[in-house]
Amino acid sequence: MLDNIYQVMRVTERIPEGKCGATLVLDGELPCQAGQFVMVWLPGVEERPFTLVNDTPVTLTVAAIGPLTRALAGLEVGARVWLRGPYGHGFPPPGRRLLVLGGGSGIASLALLARRALAEGAEVRTYIGARTTDLLMLPWYPHWSTLTLTTDDGSQGIHGNVLQAAAEQFAWADGIYACGPEPMLAALARSRRSDWPPCWINLERVMRCGIGVCGSCHCGSHLVCADGPVFNLEQVTAELLAPPH
Ligand SMILES: Cc1cc2nc3c(=O)[nH]c(=O)nc-3n(C[C@H](O)[C@H](O)[C@H](O)COP(=O)(O)OP(=O)(O)OC[C@H]3O[C@@H](n4cnc5c(N)ncnc54)[C@H](O)[C@@H]3O)c2cc1C
Ligand code: FES
Repeated sequence: MLDNIYQVMRVTERIPEGKCGATLVLDGELPCQAGQFVMVWLPGVEERPFTLVNDTPVTLTVAAIGPLTRALAGLEVGARVWLRGPYGHGFPPPGRRLLVLGGGSGIASLALLARRALAEGAEVRTYIGARTTDLLMLPWYPHWSTLTLTTDDGSQGIHGNVLQAAAEQFAWADGIYACGPEPMLAALARSRRSDWPPCWINLERVMRCGIGVCGSCHCGSHLVCADGPVFNLEQVTAELLAPPH
């Protein structure tokens, strides 16, 4: 299977992302649908999934939270990265009015969708939230049409979370696109109203193989790597609202 073969790419640019990560521009191309992901491997460290925030050139935005992401975020220009993919199902073609809701590093999984929609003349209203100002990820997307920031502690932007801040926009949009911690997606599922437009989420479950073999990413009867990571909210509402085991 051709897309299960590793490609080795070099870092051509490293853009710090606040105090919590970095955006890495690489010297290769991996044409993809917005929302698809690649498996990124550093030999001797780990392999993990990352959404492509751009495919030409390949660009990744990484929140440094563990061994691999800290190693990636610290790479210098010229360093090598191993990638396979892209995998999974991305977002369906969007309409003309997108409401984009990103919690923490989840905004990285929505960046390419928003950039492409803006390039095609759609209106995009984006809400990015984090617990505190140091954790806000504002990666490599300078052209948001309307950007609102929120922090749980009020240290930057609106005091509160993205769902509270965007409440007035749900009726305006013809599509809602969300990615973030599962409690945020569960809150979205709980507050879903019948008069909202279609709601798409990018689910970031822990993955090992990325290709539907190991079963580590299951969500109810779905394998997130093969059936997602993008789902219509209704497809996974029961799993999001199920009590933790
Ligand atoms: C489809 C997909 C796309 C992703 N895209 C991005 C991206 O663009 N940018 C980005 O920064 N991250 C992204 N992630 C998350 C990224 O894969 C994890 O941050 C990474 O696995 C952490 O690896 P690590 O070795 O640094 O830390 P680990 O030691 O693996 O994890 C550190 C801590 O985070 C928890 N954790 C790890 N992965 C997840 C997860 N998926 N959900 C909830 N908790 C988790 C672990 O349990 C642990 O507590 C994506 C995940 C998926 C499934
Ligand atoms: S990560 Fe192995 S089945 Fe999804």
